[in-house]
Amino acid sequence: MSEYVLEMYGIQKSFPGVQALNNVDFRLRPGTVHALVGENGAGKSTLMKCLFGLYSIDSGQVYLQGREVSFNHPRQALEHGVAMVHQELNQVPKRNVMENLWLGRLPKKTGFVNEKKMYENTKKAFSELGIDINPRAIMENLSVSVRQIAICAGQRSMMRCSTVGRRC
Ligand SMILES: Nc1ncnc2c1ncn2[C@@H]1O[C@H](COP(=O)(O)OP(=O)(O)O)[C@@H](O)[C@H]1O
Ligand SMILES: [Mg+2]
Repeated sequence: MSEYVLEMYGIQKSFPGVQALNNVDFRLRPGTVHALVGENGAGKSTLMKCLFGLYSIDSGQVYLQGREVSFNHPRQALEHGVAMVHQELNQVPKRNVMENLWLGRLPKKTGFVNEKKMYENTKKAFSELGIDINPRAIMENLSVSVRQIAICAGQRSMMRCSTVGRRC
């Protein structure tokens, strides 16, 4: 098995009149964190969007746990445990943290949203990472960085549910 959880080789991506990515390699070991740094327009977002299936790559290979993958849609990326938290916030500011986290996959009980389960799931997602954010806090009252942390924790929890087969 590959020592890398993710490998990207020779990634090329052009838009009309601009080559955004020219032969980019990126490798990621399990349990590591990388910061992709570069000036505006360097191609950071494009590389992540190629990985997430939002953009199709012109050429190059992507391997997840040693297996070649080619995502044509973010849904496929999510199914393989790849999530993306977008730089541009696309949340519902008047709703609370947990509703934003579970948007589109709200735990339901006899047709109604299971508020208790949603609270418990959110608390668990946060406590696993030692994060102290009130799941009932209204999104717009939090700083952008705290909102991003909450969304990241929610994505991580969702990934673990889908990839580790945990009961959620
Ligand atoms: N959807 C798009 N259509 C056309 N050009 C794009 C598109 N997305 C990004 N680009 C161009 O690709 C280059 C890389 O952009 P981007 O990946 O957003 O850079 P970064 O995230 O590092 O600031 C820039 O020249 C940008 O104008
Ligand atoms: Mg960007």
